[in-house]
Amino acid sequence: MKKSNPRQRSIQWFARQDIYGFIYRSWMKNRGVPQDMFDGRPVIGICNTWSELTPCNTHFRVLADHVRHGVLDAGGFPLEFPVMSLGETLMRPTAMLYRNLASMDVEESIRANPLDGVVLLAGCDKTTPATLMGACSVDLPTILVSGGPMLSGKYHGKDIGSGTNTWSMSEDLRAGRITLEEFHEAESCMHRSHGHCMTMGTASTMASMIEALGVGMPGNAAIPAVDARRYVLARMAGRRIVELVKEKISVSRILTREAFENAIRALAAIGGSTNAVIHLTAIARRIGVDLALDDFDRLGRGVHTLVNLMPSGKYLMEDFYYAGGLPAVLRELGENHLLHRDALTVNGKTIWENSKDAPCWNRDVIHGLKSPFKKDAGIAVLRGNLCPGGAIIKPSAATPKLMTHRARAVVFESIEDFHRRIDDPELDIDENCVMVLKNCGPKGYPGMAEVGNMPLPPKLLKKGVTDMVRISDARMSGTAYGTVVLHVCPEAAAGGALALVENGDVIELDVEKRRLVLLVAEDVLLKRRKNWKLPPPPLERGYWKLYFDHVLQASEGADLDFLVGKSGAFVPRDNH
Ligand code: FES
Repeated sequence: MKKSNPRQRSIQWFARQDIYGFIYRSWMKNRGVPQDMFDGRPVIGICNTWSELTPCNTHFRVLADHVRHGVLDAGGFPLEFPVMSLGETLMRPTAMLYRNLASMDVEESIRANPLDGVVLLAGCDKTTPATLMGACSVDLPTILVSGGPMLSGKYHGKDIGSGTNTWSMSEDLRAGRITLEEFHEAESCMHRSHGHCMTMGTASTMASMIEALGVGMPGNAAIPAVDARRYVLARMAGRRIVELVKEKISVSRILTREAFENAIRALAAIGGSTNAVIHLTAIARRIGVDLALDDFDRLGRGVHTLVNLMPSGKYLMEDFYYAGGLPAVLRELGENHLLHRDALTVNGKTIWENSKDAPCWNRDVIHGLKSPFKKDAGIAVLRGNLCPGGAIIKPSAATPKLMTHRARAVVFESIEDFHRRIDDPELDIDENCVMVLKNCGPKGYPGMAEVGNMPLPPKLLKKGVTDMVRISDARMSGTAYGTVVLHVCPEAAAGGALALVENGDVIELDVEKRRLVLLVAEDVLLKRRKNWKLPPPPLERGYWKLYFDHVLQASEGADLDFLVGKSGAFVPRDNH
């Protein structure tokens, strides 16, 4: 038998020479596993979020095979297992409702089984945070391999991007600028290969965060899903995870405070999705790093957006990869003292060793810090009586002249109320109004829907209005844009001041001063609060009930309160 690492968990199963050892090995042999696979070599779990209901992850069986080859190359024993998958496009009411449930699946699947290390396969938005959150709570050696973005959409000779052009084409259709036939044609042209959304939406942002955190291999962010180099990356991850087990480098050695600070600065530099704020916070709280909402503002402030990608810019992920990808961005940050250069990454090198010589092949796609694509464009964290727990806005996706704005509110009590009234030509609204949407937060929706970028009223679209100030406790798709204030905390359904806003109230937004204020007298608000009632849970049983009772606010990562932190890999009860 090979000399195994005494900390390897798998030997507690496979090295036993008693009835349980027989059971553990014999059942594994039913598919042709030879005896020598139980010689103490590292056992690597390949945690697969493949599902036909998650179109962004449908190539993951092939991806898993490449990881498997890598594990075998390095002398490990690969074992693939499925976990709950979360498809952004089909799941109702929103995939975010199930992120924490999927993370529980991942955590318990890893801990309960004889695994020494794990490779997580994730792609569509929520699959990345869900798998990493679960893995953090076990804290084994871990590498996340992203599925990679789709090829660029091509329509009528132009590039079109997931989400971003879905929004714009849907508004074109509503405003009568394109026909239904053209709309259908665009559907076929937009998503034409395996992979996740190819704009800098949430999936691409999270894949970039994985690389910036060091928990993914260099190149993880941008190699297209169908590019052979994505498969090479998967194979190299398979080889490397075996080494990580031998080197006893668990994921908490990678996910340090410095790693999160690198990720926050990278988030600003790529003009990434606002959803990353919630996901990074939740991941940090699982691994035990104290990350506050204000860290995003403080660390991102002054970092310019370098990447000219939709929704903030014009290019797509394929262009980003060909221009140099995330290593070129990290190099810019590192050369300008905006990177903790010594942060360790899963390939055994520091983040600076991985990026210091990274080339940039196209400065229109990846700008330098001295001539950025957009200046000062991190995530801005707002405070004020409307959001004492904070709210966020992504200035790079907003209209500059609206970032200081004072106007009357037009209030929608729920997303259903919004849908009922938004198309009404009699709706009392003009382009200066502030649109306010309530009850779309973690508890209120439930699951915090991506509806914060409310579509504008058709009567204003027809006048050529393209943006208005919008405020809600909801999230926004990473592919969306506009002057949109999100994640208002506390949310309306938790009794936040947002619940008290009425039509005609005046709201003041000042992004430069980081202020969001409801200009209504305190005694009036007190009177309104007396009449406010806590909404009942949407369902009285099952996961929805568990979620409603335990979900934290967006500023705390919207995790379930009892999932914060980690329990490690030890199984406390074991009668074997
Ligand atoms: Fe899966 Fe966009 S729908 S990443």
